Amino acid sequence: MNSEKESTPGAQEEKMPEPCIMVIFGASGDLTKRMLVPSLYELFLDDLLPENFTVAGFSRKELNTESFRESLKEGIKDFGEAESFNEEKWEKFKKNIFYFISDYEDINSYKDLKEKLDKIDAEKNIGGNRLLYMAVPPEGLLGIIENLGKSGLNKNNSEDSWTRIILEKPFGHDLESALKLNKKVNRYFSEKQIYRIDHYLGKESVQNILVTRFANGIFEPLWNRNYIDHVEITSSESIGIENRGGYYDHTGALRDVVQNHLLQLLGYVAMEPPSLFESNSIRDESLKVFQSLRQIKKEDVNNSVLRGQYTASHIRGKSVPGYREEKDVDPDSRTETYVAMKFYVDNWRWGGVPFYIRTGKRLPTRVTEVVIHFKPTPHHLFKRRTDISQSYNMLVIRIQPDEGILIKFGMKVPGGGFQVQNVNMDFHYSDLKDHNLHSAYEKLILDCMLGDSTLFIRADAVEACWKFIQPILDEWKENHEIKIYGYPAGTWGPECADDLIAGKDFMWRYPCKNLADDGTYCEL
Ligand code: BG6
Repeated sequence: MNSEKESTPGAQEEKMPEPCIMVIFGASGDLTKRMLVPSLYELFLDDLLPENFTVAGFSRKELNTESFRESLKEGIKDFGEAESFNEEKWEKFKKNIFYFISDYEDINSYKDLKEKLDKIDAEKNIGGNRLLYMAVPPEGLLGIIENLGKSGLNKNNSEDSWTRIILEKPFGHDLESALKLNKKVNRYFSEKQIYRIDHYLGKESVQNILVTRFANGIFEPLWNRNYIDHVEITSSESIGIENRGGYYDHTGALRDVVQNHLLQLLGYVAMEPPSLFESNSIRDESLKVFQSLRQIKKEDVNNSVLRGQYTASHIRGKSVPGYREEKDVDPDSRTETYVAMKFYVDNWRWGGVPFYIRTGKRLPTRVTEVVIHFKPTPHHLFKRRTDISQSYNMLVIRIQPDEGILIKFGMKVPGGGFQVQNVNMDFHYSDLKDHNLHSAYEKLILDCMLGDSTLFIRADAVEACWKFIQPILDEWKENHEIKIYGYPAGTWGPECADDLIAGKDFMWRYPCKNLADDGTYCEL
């Protein structure tokens, strides 16, 4: 009997996960402290964790269970939800957290770990369920997977129990390494055991794209080439690369954000309705989108994809270093901190509709949004009050912050004549009475415990996305004529990005033209 049954998305509303032990590899690292444990603690406060849920940290750092617990407590206080720390609850939560020093390269560490897990399992009556969380840098991953396989930690403990593995991005550095990684993981784990996390799919507002599209008769008939002129996806960040120069300089915006988060978002915007609302039906549909992406030819890369790098500047009176001056960055680096691109999805629904993606670090504000630009009416009867870029209907799906949906449409200016001006119909999640948005990690960890893989990335999707991105990376590497444009930190990127979209009656949508003093999102 295979204990991995397909579960229905949304099942967690009815179900409580079965008891399990979550083993975190890389337990002393940043991800565990900033994201994983604060998320687990929130789930615990919301009574969403199973009884005897246990965390076993596995890492090389010289810590013991007590010091590990202390560092996690600090993490919850510093990075968790400010108002939620409660000493009494923490005391209860921490009892099921343990730490084991390991040597990732030594198979005996894994055999030891197995014995310890079996012991905890028996004491707490957990039933053999294991969730192996890989919070380790990519360099160490292949070796760990190999040792998990060799020590038997990859296997289910019994017919009724499960073992699942969560992998964090990056899923490879390019197509070749992604294929190699998939091959290695698939050697020891079946695809049903593997949960590849892309935290964008854990965002409530991203999942809501499916509901907006497939639960609303007013949008569904319009969602195609007949009514949509073009689609714009922007993900701008006001932060720089923080202390991640070593990682980022070998990565760049195309790999860091476009290959994964933004293509996943595109999958939901562009997919066909699944015949069933079930994990593999949904993932099959996003895969088809990735497989329909028109490959950007070598000779078109320069015109279709534009890259930039932020330069030193002043933001709100504070001086900000340029990318090349950041710690651990090569002073001659040609790594992009900004990408804008135009491409097509070659299928029946989207034939001829351009898609535009834009992302960057050190832009004026933090905002991620999908903008559906509808075609204009066939004949202009009225005069417009606004500039061209604002003159057609738009549906703006705000992913973050201030999650919600905005519709822009024309209305008669009150008084004489028939002038049209644009107005907004605006929904904010924050207006919902009992809204409690779980963080992406809370949602995804819980889904994994429930065996719901809908929001996780399958191997075939990872590979299809790399296939689309790889020719761009190759051309950038080989063709030194292709420019990388500087843009002052705190601006909207290289000005020539406008030329990608220009030629039409449109511009990029600038959700915030002027820097608000507090750096927050400001709707114009
Ligand atoms: C991560 C990238 O995957 O996503 C970061 O490595 C980026 O560079 C982050 O800042 C963006 O996530 P979010 O949820 O803040 O949009």
